[in-house]
Amino acid sequence: MKMVKVGLVGLGTVGGGFYDISKKRKEFQITKILNRSERKYVTHYVPDEMIASDLHDLIERVDIVVEAVGGIDFPNKVISQALISGKDVVTANKALIADKGDELLKLSEKMGRKLLFGASVGGGMPALLNLQYHSLGKVTRVYGILNATSNFVLSKMSQGMDMSRAVKIAQEEGYAEQDPSDDISGMDATRKLAIICAYITGKLPNLKGIFVNQLQINQEQISYVESMEMVVKPIAYMKIKSNGIELWVGPAALSKNSKMAKTNGTENCLIIEGESGINSLTGVGAGRNPTAFSVMADVISIAKGNATLPYFKKDETLNILEPAFKEIKGVKIIDT
Ligand code: HSE
Repeated sequence: MKMVKVGLVGLGTVGGGFYDISKKRKEFQITKILNRSERKYVTHYVPDEMIASDLHDLIERVDIVVEAVGGIDFPNKVISQALISGKDVVTANKALIADKGDELLKLSEKMGRKLLFGASVGGGMPALLNLQYHSLGKVTRVYGILNATSNFVLSKMSQGMDMSRAVKIAQEEGYAEQDPSDDISGMDATRKLAIICAYITGKLPNLKGIFVNQLQINQEQISYVESMEMVVKPIAYMKIKSNGIELWVGPAALSKNSKMAKTNGTENCLIIEGESGINSLTGVGAGRNPTAFSVMADVISIAKGNATLPYFKKDETLNILEPAFKEIKGVKIIDT
């Protein structure tokens, strides 16, 4: 059997993790690597012959390209060039998929190649794989915790820590974004919610249309919510209605006995309601290994020839609705 050759672009947290866990796999072999800083080649003991001279060199010599760079412009170039050159692609890049996923999927379809991005939402849950199953039937509501950093920050705040200290710890632990304001503003969860919406409905919403409340909450609000037997959690929320789709991200109060209330640390949780019942998913949603394993699962499904290409289109006319939640002390309440 022909060995499937993988080219890895980016040796940061996710790429470095993927490289380290892939060394003994039999389904594929990483044969070329490209990283901006040469120091990482040393850290990961990358042999000289594996270092690509440039992007073209990497793409030409492999079957699958893994993009693990982060950001938009360069990853877009990596993925587009790889697809145009007839290579399959795996990425964890939620910012790029939430912005240009439809165009890239169109290109992959045109080129007859695969583009998978399971690691972009929920890391080790794994969310998209499960959503593929649940969306065989009608899905009515999907909500959950999709950002580990803001969940960690809220739980530390409920123990009396101030927000900036909690954010700093999340950065040190390696699961905050390069720019942690993406976590705190809700942007990271908004991107993941957009990808979930696209996956389920086939319509990629304009990110600007999604209703977002920042993680602006104070100790007094948290204590009051807790005195009412509830907890505050960072929620991403989607409800499909006959006249549009409710899409909202922000801190919300929910029953302290709910599954979500017990989701802590880097764990993510997603509740999927619909024809397949009320289903919950949990798993480690952030950090090096959970994300790297998700990337590896996509690479293996392409290598084995059993990957299916998701399909969605950007829909600028999608009627995005603001959910009418009840509130307690200015905090929205999610009915679980
Ligand atoms: N910054 C993200 C989080 C990383 O905190 O969940 C995983 O996507």
